[in-house]
Amino acid sequence: MSTRAGTVTNHARDLARKANIAVQRRTWGRRVNSWDHADSPGLDRVVEAVLDRVPQGRLGTVVDIGAGTGRLTLPLAERSERTIAVDVSAAMLDRLSERAAVSGLSTVETSATPAEQLDFEAGSVDLVVSNYALHHLRDADKAALVKAAAQWLKPGGLIVIGDMMFGRGGSSRDREIIAGKALAMLRKGPAGWWRIAKNAGRFLFRVQERPVSPETWVSMLRSAGLTDVVSTPVVAEAAVVSGRRPEGA
Ligand SMILES: C[S@@+](CC[C@H](N)C(=O)[O-])C[C@H]1O[C@@H](n2cnc3c(N)ncnc32)[C@H](O)[C@@H]1O
Repeated sequence: MSTRAGTVTNHARDLARKANIAVQRRTWGRRVNSWDHADSPGLDRVVEAVLDRVPQGRLGTVVDIGAGTGRLTLPLAERSERTIAVDVSAAMLDRLSERAAVSGLSTVETSATPAEQLDFEAGSVDLVVSNYALHHLRDADKAALVKAAAQWLKPGGLIVIGDMMFGRGGSSRDREIIAGKALAMLRKGPAGWWRIAKNAGRFLFRVQERPVSPETWVSMLRSAGLTDVVSTPVVAEAAVVSGRRPEGA
């Protein structure tokens, strides 16, 4: 039975979700060039770690969530039958399509859909991947997405998530990562101090950046009914978590 309090809570959640989607779309729409040209050895290592977790050989249908300009999508598209790049920002996907065309990749489709509203037919996808995107989702939306993705997968299908993964200081690993980030910014002088203030606000109030720990991701994947759930640290702040839809499920 729905209560008035329940309806108000759901309404507030919907509004918060819509507001986040609008902020992400606007923010990333402006960052296409800077992100496309970002030169980060740490980020490259996370992409490699995600790709390492993907089975060798030909792939069927692949979905990349928060695909950006295709850092992960394009290498996968070289060996998949169908690759669907999903992103909240159409501007990011336009650049991804240009890059796919330059590389002669004809199997890439794009979908400018927020991850929170994504839907695929049950049992239709072989591989779901995501790199450095899902920390932008609200925590309840992360869990809902993992649950939905577990249904899209064919039996035996795989989900692999690479992302910044740490909590808000509850563990010594969290504290090391947060201190490391602060130190790196401090060393940049006044511009870095401003970034510390901005990022502290974002992390503290969970606006735009909402990382959760590898353990939380593991627990979300297990709760969605996935098996063989594995978490591997990659660089200081980042880890890769994967899980498989059981055969016969
Ligand atoms: C840090 S970039 C990572 C892009 C790409 N995966 C990569 O590794 O280069 C984050 C991406 O997530 C996308 N994004 C943020 N919020 C999203 C949402 N709610 N649904 C879908 N994509 C989202 C952004 O538009 C952006 O392209």
